Amino acid sequence: MPAAVSITQEILKPHLEIQGGHTLSRELKVSGAKNSALVLMTSALLSEGPLELHNVPQLTDIQGMADILASLGVHVKRSQETVWLQADDLHHAEPPYDLVNGLRASFFCIGPLLGRLGHAKVPLPGGCRIGARPVVEHIRGLKALGAMVKVEHGVVTASVPGTSRRLKGAAIVLDCPSVGATETILMAAVLAEGTSTIENAAQEPEVQDLAKMLNAMGARVIGAGGPIITIEGVERLHGCNYSVIPDRIEAGTFLIAAAITRSIVRVSPVIPEHLNAVLQKLRDCGCTLEIDKQGITLIPGDLHGVDIITQPFPGFPTDLQAPFMALLTTAKGTSVVTEKIYENRMQHVAELQRMGASIRLQGNTAVVEGVPQLSAAPVSGNDLRAAAALVLAGLAARGISQVDGLNHLDRGYDGIESKLNASGAHILRHQPSG
Ligand code: UD1
Repeated sequence: MPAAVSITQEILKPHLEIQGGHTLSRELKVSGAKNSALVLMTSALLSEGPLELHNVPQLTDIQGMADILASLGVHVKRSQETVWLQADDLHHAEPPYDLVNGLRASFFCIGPLLGRLGHAKVPLPGGCRIGARPVVEHIRGLKALGAMVKVEHGVVTASVPGTSRRLKGAAIVLDCPSVGATETILMAAVLAEGTSTIENAAQEPEVQDLAKMLNAMGARVIGAGGPIITIEGVERLHGCNYSVIPDRIEAGTFLIAAAITRSIVRVSPVIPEHLNAVLQKLRDCGCTLEIDKQGITLIPGDLHGVDIITQPFPGFPTDLQAPFMALLTTAKGTSVVTEKIYENRMQHVAELQRMGASIRLQGNTAVVEGVPQLSAAPVSGNDLRAAAALVLAGLAARGISQVDGLNHLDRGYDGIESKLNASGAHILRHQPSG
C-alpha cells in the first residue's frame, strides 16, 4: 500500500532528535574550513610534489573531493584531519559525472588541470537548491587566459592552443566578486606565462588561504584578500605542508548556538577578523563578546532584533543568514533579514514557522517578530545551512525536535552533535540502516 510505504520511509529517514532547553557550558571546538580545504585539495593537481594538508575537516564533501582527485590519478591518503595528496602520475583530465554530480566544488578542478596539463573536461556542477550557481565568470576568466572553452551536453571542455600548452597572463575584471571564479582563475594563472590580474576579486578568507598556500608551493601571488590580485606566473610549483584556516561559518554557527541557548560559551579556534560582520551583529543584538588570542567567549544579554543584509566578504555571509535568523526568532522585537546573494535561500523560513517562529516572507526579505519560546517539531533541512539553522532552533525549543536533512548537514559540519553534546546539548542521531 503506497500510503504505508511513505509513512515507513518517513520514520526511517536519518534525523537528529534534539531535546531543547539545555544550557551549553563547555568550549565548542571549530574544525578546519570546508570551503578552504576543498579548493586547497584541488591545488594538488598543480604540482608533482606532495601536498600535506592539516586541519582538514571530516566531511562527506571532503571525501567526495578525495574520490574525484583519485579518479584523475592523484594519490590520496587520509588519516583523521590530515590529507596527503600527490599528483605525480596525473593521467586523466576528465572527472566522471557520477562523482562530480552533487559536489559543486568539483568544478575547481578545471583551473589547475588546464594550468598543469593544458586541457580539461569537467561536467558542469549540478543544480543547487539555494539558487542558480552559474560558472560564466570562471569560463570568461579561463578564456581571457587563452583557453578555448566549449560547453556542450553539460560538459565544459577547455584546452590551451599551441605547442607550449601554457596559458598566457591576462587582465581580468570580474562582473561580480565570485569566490569560485576568483579561485579558479587564480589556480589557472599561477602556471601561466606572464602576469595576470584579477580585478573585482572575491575577498573571502578562503581566497586568501588559497593564495597563501599557492605561495608556499612557489607561486607568486600578491593582493589576495583585497579587490585586485596580481599573479606572476611560474613554470612549476612544488609540494608543501599547510594547515587549513578554522571554519568561520562553523565558528559563527557555534556562537549563535551559545546565544540562542542563552549560554556563556567559548568557541575556538577562531580568526576574529574573518567574522567581524557577524560579531558586530551579535553585539548589536545584545551579546557581549570577549576575544582572546585563540577564541571568542559569548556572553548573552537580553537579546533584541537586528537587521541583516547578506553581502560578499567583508559583509555578512550568506552562509550564516539562516542560522542567524533562527536566533532572531527568539530575540525581542522586529528584525529584517535580506538575502542578496542567492535567489532561493529562504527555505528554512517555513520550517522555523513550524517551530512557532513568527516570520513574514516577502521575496528574499524576511520580517521576523521575536517570540518568547519556540516549540519543538519535526522539521526538514533542505540545504546545509538551513539544516544548521534548524538544529539551533531545536536547541532552544521547548520539547523534542526531529531535524532531518543530515545528508546536507554532514557536508559541512564535522561531528556537530558530538561537539554540541560535549558542551551540554542533548542530541541523538538516528541513522536507520537499510
Ligand atoms: C562559495 C562558497 C559558498 C558561499 C558562496 C558565497 C565554496 C565551496 N562555496 O560558493 O559556501 O555561499 O561562496 O559566499 O567556497 N555568480 C554569477 N556568475 C558566476 C559565478 C557566480 O552570477 O559566474 C553569482 C552566483 O549566482 C551567486 C553569487 O555570484 O549569486 C555568489 O557566488 P560565488 O561567490 O561564485 O559562490 P561559490 O563560489 O559558488
